[in-house]
Amino acid sequence: MGEVLGIDIGGSGIKGAVVDTESAALVSERMRVDTPQPSTPEAVAGAVKQLVEMLGYSGAVGCTFPAIVKRGVMHSAANVDKSWIGTDGQTLFQETVGMPFVVLNDADAAGVAEMTFGAGKGRNGLVILLTFGTGIGSAVFLDGKLVPNTEFGHLHLKGKEAEARAAARIKDEKDLTWSQWAKRVNEFLMHLEFIFSPDLFIFGGGVSKRHEKFFPFFTLNTEVVPAQFFNDSGIIGAAMAAAGR
Ligand code: BGC
Repeated sequence: MGEVLGIDIGGSGIKGAVVDTESAALVSERMRVDTPQPSTPEAVAGAVKQLVEMLGYSGAVGCTFPAIVKRGVMHSAANVDKSWIGTDGQTLFQETVGMPFVVLNDADAAGVAEMTFGAGKGRNGLVILLTFGTGIGSAVFLDGKLVPNTEFGHLHLKGKEAEARAAARIKDEKDLTWSQWAKRVNEFLMHLEFIFSPDLFIFGGGVSKRHEKFFPFFTLNTEVVPAQFFNDSGIIGAAMAAAGR
């Protein structure tokens, strides 16, 4: 399978594009619809259908979701409506859209794209990709193999979940300067560094585009690189999952 639609569902937006899964290139326009509020399963499935129609696509679809996803079923719902917990999202999307879906965690999808084509290509050892957006997502790779559904954004730091202190959303909500936010992110990275001794951190999410603004404040010893596909990693990884790569 060459060209497959990848969809990335986030807390605020649902983005999609058709991806050449052999090269990671986006071969259609990248389109976005707002994540419905409240983000109930039915409302989100309707928005996904709308996006598929906007792109004029038919075929297999790969789709990320910002939660623990096991065999298509969501097992958490930090930044989406709680009624997702226990919902078989894969079957719901398939039935609503009328096309075959593969659903996986958003950070895992981003990680697979970055390890195959991007910032982690050819990197062995322990690689941790983190995405900073509405929440903090994580993907862990040992010698290129994914350990799925890690949830490092929910580790507690200074009495709060890491994502409640250091997600990109918090920077905006609290109007933090780059250095103030970087200090919070640095604490989180140093904590992960101490616990896992990784060989590489890949920094993802839309904010990774502005990495020159905050990377200089990091004081950890582990190498940190921005995601090569920035915020498109999830779309690419989703398409790869549906293509069976
Ligand atoms: C969720 C993760 C997700 C991350 C990024 C967290 O709140 O628990 O599953 O990967 O946000 O969207």
